[in-house]
Amino acid sequence: MMEEIEIPEAIRENAELPQSKGLTLPLLASGVILLGILGFVSLRLLGESKSVETVVSEPPVESSTVVTEPEPEPEPAVTPQVEPKNDLLGHLPYEVAPESELIPVTADGRIKMRPAAADKFQQMLAAAKAEGITLAALSGFRDDETQEYLFFDVKEQRVQDAAKRAEVSAPPGYSEHHTGYAIDIGDATAPETHLETTFADTPAFRWLEQNALKYSFELSFPQDNKQGVSYEPWHWRFVGDRDSLETFYKVRN
Ligand code: DAL
Ligand code: ZN
Repeated sequence: MMEEIEIPEAIRENAELPQSKGLTLPLLASGVILLGILGFVSLRLLGESKSVETVVSEPPVESSTVVTEPEPEPEPAVTPQVEPKNDLLGHLPYEVAPESELIPVTADGRIKMRPAAADKFQQMLAAAKAEGITLAALSGFRDDETQEYLFFDVKEQRVQDAAKRAEVSAPPGYSEHHTGYAIDIGDATAPETHLETTFADTPAFRWLEQNALKYSFELSFPQDNKQGVSYEPWHWRFVGDRDSLETFYKVRN
């Protein structure tokens, strides 16, 4: 037999409970559960809407407090590798070496270079000779006056404009020959190839290609060089010490 319980007045007033005594307890229990569920759901909904409200209604955070990570480092400035601006018709300015600092590289003393370059040139000459190759020194240091003649006088003799002459000869003040580090080399057994591109076909040139770097000599004007100077397989420069290296490689703006 189901136990009857006293229904509190407050609940009886607020719930439409059937008056049947046999159903009183289950109905009461169901009502309590239902109320509980409704209450729980209401509270959840209330809480969610409140939390949404909270998010929406939160004042915008100051941007200074949002950005807590350090600013990315600015990209380092890239130094552009600019082409030298002070060239003249593709040739670069060079100081004329003091003649007192030059020493001869030929027996007659006419062809001179700076001592470090002269020393290595002599070593290279001897090494080539030991292999049956006879290198010939054709032109070394040149002063301003000589370069004046080679550029201007020859330009008129050949009826050339300045740009055409500059393809094969530097204007005075702009020749590597001023430095005492450059030398024109030929094959003593093939004089017809001296200062001609056909020198590239001689045993002397092939030997230089294989061996010149051992003595710090390099070709100044290879095919398609950046300066736009014509191919000169005979013209070599010494870059075997600090002064010569800076002379030819230091970036100038
Ligand atoms: N032949 C080279 C370019 C000079 O005159 O220096
Ligand atoms: Zn030369």
